[in-house]
Amino acid sequence: MTRPTKAPDTSLRVGDRFPIQVESIAHGGHAIGHHAGRTIFVRHAIPGERVEVVVTAVNRKIVRADAVAVIDASEDRVAPPCPWTGPGGCGGCDFQHVSLARQRDLKREVLVSSLQRFAGLDDAAIGKLGIRVEELPGHPDGRGWMTRVRWSRDDAGVVGLRRHRSHEVIAVDHCVLAEPSIDSPEAVVSPSTLRRVFDRTWEIPASDFWQVHEGLPEALVGTVMEMAQPRAGEHWWDLYSGAGLFAAFIGTAVGLDGRVDAVEASPSAVSIARSALSDLPQVVVHEADTAAWILGADHEAPDGVILDPPRAGVGEQLMATLTSAEIPRLVYVACDPVALARDLAVARAAGYRLTALRSFDAFPMTHHLETVALLSR
Ligand SMILES: C[S@@+](CC[C@H](N)C(=O)[O-])C[C@H]1O[C@@H](n2cnc3c(N)ncnc32)[C@H](O)[C@@H]1O
Repeated sequence: MTRPTKAPDTSLRVGDRFPIQVESIAHGGHAIGHHAGRTIFVRHAIPGERVEVVVTAVNRKIVRADAVAVIDASEDRVAPPCPWTGPGGCGGCDFQHVSLARQRDLKREVLVSSLQRFAGLDDAAIGKLGIRVEELPGHPDGRGWMTRVRWSRDDAGVVGLRRHRSHEVIAVDHCVLAEPSIDSPEAVVSPSTLRRVFDRTWEIPASDFWQVHEGLPEALVGTVMEMAQPRAGEHWWDLYSGAGLFAAFIGTAVGLDGRVDAVEASPSAVSIARSALSDLPQVVVHEADTAAWILGADHEAPDGVILDPPRAGVGEQLMATLTSAEIPRLVYVACDPVALARDLAVARAAGYRLTALRSFDAFPMTHHLETVALLSR
């Protein structure tokens, strides 16, 4: 990518309109282009395209813009399946204008560049991991996979979904990403839903966390078990354990002679986990903040740890504490590639190697992806 050399043009204003060549993809669903010495973060474009943009936000560091007309279209451009996506529309999707195969390629590019920039992996290390973003089974058109939707109603009674980077509700009467039972605002959202994963069942209230793609829990459990390889009698920690998805299967594998400490801050998730895993006395669910639990007692190092933090990641301090203990295997489940890469940098500095990585297209039509990484000593 050629870097602009002349002094940045500070005169760009919201509403300015100009053509731009879009060069690459950035985290967050934006394509990158340059204009008047500034880097422009463009929504609704595809790297390689020439588009006409309108500036939507300007500050000292960043200029945002929407592609409002396509001058030279990518061969991967498709007609969006939803009429509410696009400039000024619903903020839920970033990639409806991109073919599903290219969506996955774009996500792979973001993951690889995050690992290079923030975790310090070189091309050889990236090559060995054989990174690709895998399609999940069940929804080949990228629709109907979402297990929850936040339908909103504003003070004026408008019912729908929120505009991009705004609290404004726009009238939307159907979401193409949602499971059919919840794809319109009139849908009666049942207070709780039974979720089956292999041979186990959870009853999840509408207000509690559950992996958002219908097919993701089984893909994640399969991958976590393949990477963790828990054996009978071992001791594992499942940190940020939610309803105990991983603790259930790790607990079954370690058996009655083993132990799993599951740590979760949300009281309701803890109570769901305790009820769903009541047949596994070797799993102990702790209602606690992860850092407070780790620092609050002199724990013996476990045989392995599963980590599935929220979007912000584990964070440098806690990651440093965790990786200073003699724990042979860490399996890190991540919904944000940059947060993952930052945490991996801490683990690598502490002597861990990134020995396996799989990534899933768990959020088709959006820029999001889910990644599982194995760190070994
Ligand atoms: C991405 S979810 C993962 C849940 C679970 N592993 C699953 O797959 O269903 C992250 C979980 O971390 C919990 N959490 C967030 N911050 C936490 C903290 N500081 N300590 C413990 N749990 C936390 C949230 O309540 C949520 O259940």
